[in-house]
Amino acid sequence: MHKRTILVPILALLALIGVGVAVDGDPAGILSGNLQARSATLAQFDGLALTPAQQGAVQFAFGDFSALSSEALEVSASPWKLATALLALRYAGGHLDGVTPQAVTAMYQSYGFVTPTRIANWPAGMPQPGLNGPLGQNIGFASRVLPPIGLTIGNIACAGCHASVVYGADGRPDISTFWLGTPNGSINLQRYVTELYAALRDRPEDEEFIWAAVQKLYPETDWREWLALKTVVLSRVKDLVAKQEATIGRLLPFEVSTSGATNGLQALQARFGIIPSDQIADRNPTISVPELGSRIWRSSLLAGGSYGVPGETPLRVMRAGDITDAHLRALAGLTAFFTVPSMGTLPTTAARHVDDAEHIMDWLRDYKPQPFPGEIDKASAERGSLVYASACASCHGSYSAGIDAPALVEFPNWQGDIGTDRTYLEEFDQASVDAVNGLGYDGLLQARLSPNYVAQPLTGLWSSAPYLHNGSVPTLWHLMHPAERPSQFDVGGHALDLAKVGIAGMDHDGMWITPPDYTPWAAPVRIDTALPGLHAIGHETPFDTMSEPDKAALLDYLKLL
Ligand code: HEC
Ligand code: HEC
Repeated sequence: MHKRTILVPILALLALIGVGVAVDGDPAGILSGNLQARSATLAQFDGLALTPAQQGAVQFAFGDFSALSSEALEVSASPWKLATALLALRYAGGHLDGVTPQAVTAMYQSYGFVTPTRIANWPAGMPQPGLNGPLGQNIGFASRVLPPIGLTIGNIACAGCHASVVYGADGRPDISTFWLGTPNGSINLQRYVTELYAALRDRPEDEEFIWAAVQKLYPETDWREWLALKTVVLSRVKDLVAKQEATIGRLLPFEVSTSGATNGLQALQARFGIIPSDQIADRNPTISVPELGSRIWRSSLLAGGSYGVPGETPLRVMRAGDITDAHLRALAGLTAFFTVPSMGTLPTTAARHVDDAEHIMDWLRDYKPQPFPGEIDKASAERGSLVYASACASCHGSYSAGIDAPALVEFPNWQGDIGTDRTYLEEFDQASVDAVNGLGYDGLLQARLSPNYVAQPLTGLWSSAPYLHNGSVPTLWHLMHPAERPSQFDVGGHALDLAKVGIAGMDHDGMWITPPDYTPWAAPVRIDTALPGLHAIGHETPFDTMSEPDKAALLDYLKLL
């Protein structure tokens, strides 16, 4: 199915081993000598009798979806040791002394990748997992005997985007503890990719210096990997840099992310030739990573509901009885496809992992978001539940009555125009739809043009700022007060404002910026809502006529979802 040509060009991001393109008729790449590693953290679960939901948590946190491969190296995986050593050298200002494991940890933390000591919602009955690097970065060693070659490959995991620090009663983050399923508002792949490219391009002339950095960080490196790094990998880096310098002077023709929002659409478009690879995109439709609570109530996925289940109506009213095994299996088919843009797999590879995605759905079935850590005024929240029922439920779904653990009972999958930024909908054009439908992922996913956004479930809302599909509004209070929405605000490594519910900031000339007494744990990005795709417009009507006391009560209620 897959033509060589779709993979070869530009997105040969780190096309390092040169055998990454599976030969037609040999999808496993045996003839082409495809390298394939397993995420090393998975080994600790081997031989354990796990329930499907437990397996789902393991896959979500550490599953590699076959993306530690030469196939994915063509797109988004990295030769972990060389990439890390060059980045670390850059981070240390070129001084070998500064290249230490501690510096590497701090460096990845600046991109939003943390090595926590605990996962707070790790399934009961399983020991806390041990990590071999930042959560959300899978690392594994691929090797083969003839010719002898070895390579440590790194790639992102679901948890890289979909797991977050937890927050204390003061809204301050606790970066030692993570919650799976909450969006990582600090993940900054754009910064990572930009600095990685600079590190590759501006690498030390003296290759021995590079190898000294690798040796310092990874003294246990296998001889086969040394051989690969020295004979093949570094020269592929040079070729790649030369090629990029001759065209766009950067790694990718589009912005991969802001902070906490990623650009899967253009990743897909560039990869499959829908947007030119040698021309920098003028609009970047980044989408804020969603909280995954209650997402199994959706009948189609993505912000516009563009990915539907073949043969089914994409937008249906869902009730508890509709969350069947068959529905979860269908959503798993859609979700497995996400590994194509996010991890750089081929659609045929993604289709082999629907079972893993199904386990993730089993885990999501019983998933609970992190409970709100602050105080909640119960009487106010009680009143807010009534405001919600009359002003919000028709689009965002009905929750069980009262304030004692509200749970969705009906979800309409409502789609319509509420005036939010349309860049993403416009960019997700017919060519993209046709391309996705033509990738040979048939029978599992039907892409369609989407006229409007779908109202999301609001479960877990308090911990998932910034808000709207494009992450253009820093707090729920600002969402409710459209005239006060800031022109610019800081995201990344932030604390939360538990009163306004969202990113903690300070008003400064119409901007919402990091307060001076707070040091972000990851490098923040200043979101400029004047940029196309980032406009903080729309979703004003529900609040037009709402009184201030009703808004305050609603805000209290939303903390409970
Ligand atoms: C690079 C960051 C990233 C990675 C890695 C990633 N996701 Fe996502 N995920 C997103 C973003 C951003 C969206 C929203 C996309 C949209 O709405 O257009 C999303 C959407 C989703 C949704 C759909 C939510 C909805 O209502 O439409 C599910 C389910 C999901 N991801 C699960 C996963 C799983 C499972 C994995 C691992 C196999 C994964 N994601 C890997 C960033 C990521
Ligand atoms: C007429 C339908 C409709 C009504 C009524 C409505 N919304 Fe929405 N809402 C939407 C749509 C559609 C979106 C998605 C828009 C986007 O992301 O661009 C949305 C998005 C949101 C978001 C962003 C969610 C996120 O994860 O970022 C929040 C918060 C929200 N609505 C809260 C509310 C509240 C609170 C009410 C009740 C006062 C309400 N909405 C009423 C349609 C509606």
